[in-house]
Amino acid sequence: MGKLAGKVVVITGANSGIGLASAKRFAAEGARVFMTGRRARELEDAVNAVGHNAVGIPSDISNMQDLDTLFAQVKREAGQIDVLFANAGGGDFATLTDITEAHYDRIFSTNVKGTLFTVQKALPLLKDGASIILTGSTSATTGVPAFSVYSASKAAIRNFARSWILELAPRKIRVNVLVPGATSTPGWHGLASDQEFNQEMIRAVEATTPLGRLADPAEVAAAALFLASDDSSYVNGSELFVDGGAAQI
Ligand SMILES: NC(=O)c1ccc[n+]([C@@H]2O[C@H](COP(=O)([O-])OP(=O)(O)OC[C@H]3O[C@@H](n4cnc5c(N)ncnc54)[C@H](OP(=O)(O)O)[C@@H]3O)[C@@H](O)[C@H]2O)c1
Repeated sequence: MGKLAGKVVVITGANSGIGLASAKRFAAEGARVFMTGRRARELEDAVNAVGHNAVGIPSDISNMQDLDTLFAQVKREAGQIDVLFANAGGGDFATLTDITEAHYDRIFSTNVKGTLFTVQKALPLLKDGASIILTGSTSATTGVPAFSVYSASKAAIRNFARSWILELAPRKIRVNVLVPGATSTPGWHGLASDQEFNQEMIRAVEATTPLGRLADPAEVAAAALFLASDDSSYVNGSELFVDGGAAQI
């Protein structure tokens, strides 16, 4: 029996990176996985890569209509949700001088507004005792030059969890923040404008992380599995750092 046998899981941002690695791991542990992302073609490929027990629903978490459509389909097909992994997110670099309104809106619409309404709109379907996992970032607690809007958006996630565990206590719903450090995903590598900058970013991570390397998405998925499963039944409101020690020193 897998750790998520018979469980219904929704993972946003599951056509790439950490979300896709988690979909694969959760399905291997027996879950029925609903996967989302805006790019339909990539989502179809991701669903095929998971291989079984997976459904793809193209949707944008910053779009209220898309969220309604997503959860209406989950309701029709599964009736309820045991695990919600609100993972979709992203960002890009801009110095304080260069930040534009569009940069701010793009990042906050997905990472803050999108995460908030993903959770709100899932509430009627979440079973009592369900697990909600939000994806934070080590940058929520450390300073990162030219990354302040993204980092501030992830700092908001940290407080969402702390506030929501109080509001969801009567339903025994747990909310935890998964905090990846630099993880080798298309999103992370895509932060670099060219190959040379990418190599520079990799060298910087290797030099500043006690484990001396980036995380593999499967290592972050393993921590997500812990938060999703009953193994973490008394873990609530926590931040689980999966950062090779980078933000602990
Ligand atoms: N990789 C790291 O080093 C790292 C570190 C700390 C935190 N994180 C966080 O981990 C999460 C996953 O990132 P990743 O590294 O796996 O990056 P990734 O490979 O770029 O994956 C991001 C996923 O989010 C989806 N997404 C983005 N905006 C969306 C929106 N508005 N609506 C729905 N889906 C959306 C993307 O699909 P579409 O583009 O098709 O929508 C994709 O599936 C993010 O929240 C990220 O901030 C990553």
